[in-house]
Amino acid sequence: MKSTICLNTHSLTPSIGEEVTDIDLSKPISRDASDCLRALLGSRGMIFFRNQDLTPEQQISFASNFGEILVNPYFASVPGHPAVAQVLKEPDQKQNIGERWHTDNSYDVAPALGSVLYAKEVPPTGGDTLFANMYAAYDSLSEGLKRTLVNLRAVHSTRHIFSKDGYHGSRDTDGRIRTTETNHREADHPVVITHPISGNKALFVNPGLTTHIAGWTVEESHSLLRVLYEHAQRPEFQCRLRWQAGTIALWDNRCTWHKALNDYSGYRRLMHRVQIQGVQLH
Ligand code: OGA
Ligand code: MN
Repeated sequence: MKSTICLNTHSLTPSIGEEVTDIDLSKPISRDASDCLRALLGSRGMIFFRNQDLTPEQQISFASNFGEILVNPYFASVPGHPAVAQVLKEPDQKQNIGERWHTDNSYDVAPALGSVLYAKEVPPTGGDTLFANMYAAYDSLSEGLKRTLVNLRAVHSTRHIFSKDGYHGSRDTDGRIRTTETNHREADHPVVITHPISGNKALFVNPGLTTHIAGWTVEESHSLLRVLYEHAQRPEFQCRLRWQAGTIALWDNRCTWHKALNDYSGYRRLMHRVQIQGVQLH
């Protein structure tokens, strides 16, 4: 589908993902172009650009069109560039980063608006990223379940991920992920948020970082969350981005989930990530 706005774009799937062509992100972009990109991001959830060549400073400057830059304390950064996280897997490493469906930084009181992820080195095949549309996931729930979710909040945490005995606590991720026993973050958000820009409702719980429904036990929460997660993982809500070196993707973290496939054992994959600060969600 060809969009009618000022940039040349192609939809990756009906539900989510839009390629933007004919734009060089290493150069400052016009006010009109950044307005268009912001609108596209809100409606398509994830936008991507091929064949880009950016320095870390240029990547930061592109990300700054969308908000303040956020520095994530749990990721190793590109040497000399604390604001550029290194999302890396070496050929002999087993664990990748972001393999479970998740929403970045939902453990923060004001979760990230999104990320600019830039592929520097990719395997010959494999290492794709899946994205899922959480507006569509919410919209297609029954009216009854929607009513049940209205007043619920969910708790999100780093503890089960970035602790020494957590998901990313293994020796395999040493030097890539900074695990900690002290610097933990936890926040609660409505299970259904109103997107701060589009005004549309989106499901805002995720398998990676949500621990339980506020005021419920973990066991009680599990049953409801499992139903929501199974529903939200319907392939109709997803797209799959095949990276090439030089591909840049930008996603809106409030209305999408993403998942990094770990199917490229024996190859190196290196991405540079710049995160953009978001706001508190209601
Ligand atoms: C991330 C992430 C996915 C990938 O950078 O937040 O989850 O495919 N990365 O590397
Ligand atoms: Mn992520």
